Amino acid sequence: MHVLVTGGAGYIGSHTVRELLKVGYRVTVLDNLSRGHKAVARIISGAEFIWGDIGERELVEEILRTREIQAVLHFAALSLVGESVADPARYYQNNVVKGIILLEAMRAAEVPYFIFSSSAAVYGEPVTVPIDEEHLCRPTNPYGATKLVVEEALRWYATAYRLKYISLRYFNAAGADSSGDLGEDHRPETHLIPVVLQAALGVRREVTIYGTDYPTPDGTCLRDYIHVTDLAKAHVLALQALVAGHPSSVYNLGNERGYSVREIIRTAEQVTGRKIPVVEGFRRPGDPAVLVASTRRMKEALGWRPQYSELATIISTAWHWLQRHTEGYADI
Ligand code: UFG
Repeated sequence: MHVLVTGGAGYIGSHTVRELLKVGYRVTVLDNLSRGHKAVARIISGAEFIWGDIGERELVEEILRTREIQAVLHFAALSLVGESVADPARYYQNNVVKGIILLEAMRAAEVPYFIFSSSAAVYGEPVTVPIDEEHLCRPTNPYGATKLVVEEALRWYATAYRLKYISLRYFNAAGADSSGDLGEDHRPETHLIPVVLQAALGVRREVTIYGTDYPTPDGTCLRDYIHVTDLAKAHVLALQALVAGHPSSVYNLGNERGYSVREIIRTAEQVTGRKIPVVEGFRRPGDPAVLVASTRRMKEALGWRPQYSELATIISTAWHWLQRHTEGYADI
């Protein structure tokens, strides 16, 4: 089966391309390189890489038709909460408008299967924890709102047209492929684990803890960190299930365990054997105190089991990658 991976040169997309190739899919990647990295094409042999935008309807349709694509895994999106609050128009344009253009190209080319990168950000401030898929969706930022709009479009498209989809709501993706050649490289980096490890390495002076007065055991936020390879494997499982007749659905992906910012820093110090300079700062606007997933639905329906769920494993794979890529991917 030939699949299209949008955003396949990005963090979660690239890890998923690798897992898809491992189990025998033919893979074409479409990435505009706004957040992804050209170097990924050199590292992952076996996939075809096309540098282009999902908003180019004719290009997308042509790719789908000429390669007889049967499924699209859609990672290409902007995903920074703070950036989305500062510039919501950009998020609606990239994530919603272009997302719909992609769905329209699929409809024209009669591509039946779609796997969507959604986010825990669709829930907003949790009312009950752990958060299951029935939890109220009331996003507190434009990023989460744009993911929810696309999820709703998918529901209606699936009802009216021949589309089958699975939407995967990620909690905090982290870690790197165990080979050490694929990893997390956002510019600028804002995510906690890479920021902490950059401070351990000395390429960043310190880590600022955003808030120490939350109603949590140590006063810092709790998040559910999930290894990127476990996420990638979940996509393969979801695709296989859809093709085998599994109904359109929505699933959370997390580890069902919350770690505080201080626990992350402490574990990173153990893994790296280095002291990490820390500064205690103010809360970051929009951060809920606790985000922890219930993933019972995914486990029961698809038999998914995270294999790299230990925090030390997540951090050590990220550390392994960072030590080999102290300045990130070399994009030449
Ligand atoms: N944090 C710090 N210092 C830093 C960076 C982060 O204290 O330098 C804290 C944050 O306040 C938060 C936790 O570490 O409590 C995790 O922050 P991240 O920025 O790594 O991740 P978020 O939980 O903010 O966001 C992630 C994804 C989003 C997604 C969201 C779902 O990056 O795309 O989870 O809620 F929307």
